[in-house]
Amino acid sequence: MPDDLKKKYFTKIGASYQISDDVKKRVEFKEHNLLRDAYPTACDMIVCRNVVIYFTDDAKEEIYIKFNQALKKTGFYLSAARSRL
Ligand SMILES: C[S@@+](CC[C@H](N)C(=O)[O-])C[C@H]1O[C@@H](n2cnc3c(N)ncnc32)[C@H](O)[C@@H]1O
Repeated sequence: MPDDLKKKYFTKIGASYQISDDVKKRVEFKEHNLLRDAYPTACDMIVCRNVVIYFTDDAKEEIYIKFNQALKKTGFYLSAARSRL
């Protein structure tokens, strides 16, 4: 990460970095059933790790379409799970 972003969004604590309270305040946690709930819009980033592994190929395809619609054009999708799509 570039130094200016580290300086802006993190506090250096020893050898580690802690994310700033200003960023933490913007984080909202809520339950979301990927199969049933309405998806948000204009997302900058979707991180979905080891979740779609439980779903059928049809359900996965539907979820990926909804992720795509939920993201801004410049948004990122990050996944650590393997996918066949
Ligand atoms: C193996 S855990 C992975 C948890 C975490 N993402 C990680 O990588 O450590 C799978 C998660 O998928 C969630 N999950 C299962 N079905 C879901 C659904 N329909 N909608 C949203 N989450 C679901 C479970 O609640 C569980 O937390």
